[in-house]
Amino acid sequence: VSMKLWGGRFQKTTDRLVEDFHSSISFDQRLYKQDIRGSIAHATMLGKVGIISPEEARQIVEGLKEILGEIESGQVEFDIAAEDIHMNVEKLLTAKIGAVGKKLHTARSRNDQVAVDIRMYLKDEITEIRAQLKELIETLLDLAEQHLHTVMPGYTHMQRAQPITLAHHLMAYVQMFLRDMDRLADCYKRTDVMPLGAGALAGTTFPLDREYTAELLGFAAVSENSLDAVSDRDFAVEFCAAASLIMMHLSRFCEEIILWSTGEFAFIELDDAYSTGSSIMPQKKNPDVAELIRGKTGRVYGDLMGLLTMLKGLPLAYNKDMQEDKEALFDAVDTVKGCLMVFRPMIATMTVRKDNMARAARGGFTNATDVADYLAKKGVPFREAHEIVGKAVFYCLQQGKTLEELTLEEYRQLSPVFDRDIYAAIGVEHCAAARKVKGGPAPEAVQQSIANARNMLQQI
Ligand code: ARG
Repeated sequence: VSMKLWGGRFQKTTDRLVEDFHSSISFDQRLYKQDIRGSIAHATMLGKVGIISPEEARQIVEGLKEILGEIESGQVEFDIAAEDIHMNVEKLLTAKIGAVGKKLHTARSRNDQVAVDIRMYLKDEITEIRAQLKELIETLLDLAEQHLHTVMPGYTHMQRAQPITLAHHLMAYVQMFLRDMDRLADCYKRTDVMPLGAGALAGTTFPLDREYTAELLGFAAVSENSLDAVSDRDFAVEFCAAASLIMMHLSRFCEEIILWSTGEFAFIELDDAYSTGSSIMPQKKNPDVAELIRGKTGRVYGDLMGLLTMLKGLPLAYNKDMQEDKEALFDAVDTVKGCLMVFRPMIATMTVRKDNMARAARGGFTNATDVADYLAKKGVPFREAHEIVGKAVFYCLQQGKTLEELTLEEYRQLSPVFDRDIYAAIGVEHCAAARKVKGGPAPEAVQQSIANARNMLQQI
């Protein structure tokens, strides 16, 4: 009755609704390259160990190569009735080379086939995303180098806290993106395991050379347990977790870009090419790109949650629920890549308003800690110094002055320990430059961490 590849056991055809409902070809067709590559390796291995004849292997491989070319030149229309990319390719093969095509699926199941396909796909995507991150880090390092002396306020609770530099601020993100690269490299290791040979769930009676297939496909290892091999989607979850962190980092950065480009902050101006206008308010220049990246972060978290939730109740081994892995994974990959693609040039082309940053750093008493440190270095216990400077700030607020504007007499009223050298100690440029501790904002310290980051990138 049925034309299905699995139709032998059935007396009726599939309901039309079910056919649409369970078919995955609309989205898994993007795995055609991996699917064909996996099949070529499988057939080559079957030929090598003598499960099929060398001539049969050759015909299958040739047929698959032709199909690849046909798909790439847009000649193939996939068939919903053939369910997924695996059976579509197999049907095309049989139509092309006849009965020999039916030998391809010997000692294989779609369960190990789909697992190998996604792993190959994800390995390539991880490599690409790492390259994008590397480029972004390089852009940030170049920018940091230009702004080693660009003083700005550092914030806690969104209140001005202490003076830092823009370079120091940018280098904080460099550390995050370096960790992201590392996480992806780690995830890659666990993705780089070849599941073919696991069959449907219980391996196979055929004497496969799994190591040879792995070698042909460029996998570092073969899976150790057939049940695990077809049920494991940890690597996809790990990827989505790493992708979520990348998005979270981008989103925090975007939030700052949005804030910094307000008229109230005016620390930066985005390039026209990376901003948009309003259909009603003629004056507007909106940071839509940054906002959209911030917004898309939620989708990637959704992809991660979707995968985890889909997997949590599944008994071993394969269950059809797992077909739902692909859209989440594809969406996470597409979103991260799309965001990184536009984020880097947005940052590279923005204008930095150094004067506004410096002005903001000079207000808000960002040097109050330095006044307290000044007293502490002259022997006043820090807690006492803190109290004295708190009073100084209160006095300044009443007088409408900054700490630099207090006279020596006013300082001496607060504590006799104050001397002329107080003024040199509390200029905001000095405050940033004096924080020479490793990891601090002093230009030498930041320069060192730029050099360290460049070194790390070279080893990647
Ligand atoms: N389209 C399926 C998926 O994406 C392939 C594996 C199907 N296996 C099965 N036994 N139905 O998961």
